[in-house]
Amino acid sequence: MQSSRKKISKKISNQRAVSKYGADILDSVGHKKCTEYIQHGNTSIRQHTASVACLAVAMARKTPFKYDYQALVRGALLHDYFLYDWHKPHHGLHGYAHASIALHNAAEDFAVSPIEADIIKKHMWPLNLNPPKYRESFIITLADKVCSIKEIFGKPIYNKKIEEILNEYQ
Ligand SMILES: [Fe+2]
Ligand SMILES: [Fe+2]
Repeated sequence: MQSSRKKISKKISNQRAVSKYGADILDSVGHKKCTEYIQHGNTSIRQHTASVACLAVAMARKTPFKYDYQALVRGALLHDYFLYDWHKPHHGLHGYAHASIALHNAAEDFAVSPIEADIIKKHMWPLNLNPPKYRESFIITLADKVCSIKEIFGKPIYNKKIEEILNEYQ
């Protein structure tokens, strides 16, 4: 699986990379359903996961390492694929449980690679103690926390460029 790691062309924007590698997920009924669930503030799960994917690509490009960008994007888009409203009280252990639920749902609806599975399962590290195994998973733990904090404080990274990508898959 390491063999699919490479540098990404400078000609492709972060948003375009997300559209390229995540097309089937962005076009799926399941991921579109994530529009109905709010993650933080006014940001839906679909918007949050697209934001994490874009930021993760941007962060990865700033490092000197090669990445499996397909796994990075797909793992980002599926990392919160738990498919319920976590604000409702019957999901009290959401913080601990949702990564495993997201992986279960993702594996039912998509072909999930080992790196993508690790991204989804470990994205709540260090709250969930099992640490990321791959560099792609580690980048997502960082990108997810940055996006989440900004969404909570009303300054989401979700913007027109990311919206344009989602609008291509309505
Ligand atoms: Fe999460
Ligand atoms: Fe998240």
